Amino acid sequence: NFMNQLVGIHDVENQLAHVLGVDHVMIVSGNCDTQPKILDEMGALVNQTLNALLPDGRNVVAVMGGNTMGHVATALSRRLGQNRQLMFVPARGGIGERVDIQANTICAEMARSTGGEHRAFYLPDNVSADVYEPLLKEPSVRRVLDLIGHATAVVHSVGDALVMAKRREMDAATIQLLQKDQAVGEAFGYFFNEAGQVVYKVPRIGLQVSDLQKIPYVVCIAGGASKGKAIKAYMHSAPEHTWLITDEGAAKVILNGA
Ligand code: G3H
Repeated sequence: NFMNQLVGIHDVENQLAHVLGVDHVMIVSGNCDTQPKILDEMGALVNQTLNALLPDGRNVVAVMGGNTMGHVATALSRRLGQNRQLMFVPARGGIGERVDIQANTICAEMARSTGGEHRAFYLPDNVSADVYEPLLKEPSVRRVLDLIGHATAVVHSVGDALVMAKRREMDAATIQLLQKDQAVGEAFGYFFNEAGQVVYKVPRIGLQVSDLQKIPYVVCIAGGASKGKAIKAYMHSAPEHTWLITDEGAAKVILNGA
């Protein structure tokens, strides 16, 4: 019956939280690889979660890009922006993504959905130290970095390593390195192998994975059987206080390796 189903899914959520070493896991039934509407259900859950977690008043929310985050952006509600001044900022500079799924665009959409504000980061990926050091002195860059430094929440996804590397048109030598080092997952521009070790990191300005420890609310949304390994790999580095919102497709792969 319905109650048993509920208890059942809670058991699996607890089991998954234990395996991944994070405090909170929520699982939507289905597999977003084959049922894209599952992404909207996960997005609605992100909206509810943020609504339950974020304090009234001013909140800076740092966000990443991607297709999943695009669904989250449309799922955020006016209600979330009630009694709150929400400021959405990209968590990191350039990302080499299509414009419609870049963090800058996602931030603008989130601001529109909630009646909040947003700021953009216009920075290239793969910047060398001599290029980005002067950029760090730019007042417009400093202002966004300062906002990121005061973020109450981070909302992000996780991707399959090679899917991300190819989609972002990383160079052939780097893709080869990722294959040689058996990278399986990507988050925040960090690439992880199955054991959770960082095998490559895209040099970028902004939030680093270690910074997540001091951000009060970290919401990770990633689902689909195709992302099971990637999620597991990243979770070794995720802060314990992470809220993972995922689906059955990914959960089964993580728990059963199937
Ligand atoms: O870093 C991970 C990617 O942003 C995930 O992208 O949601 O399009 O799979 P995706």
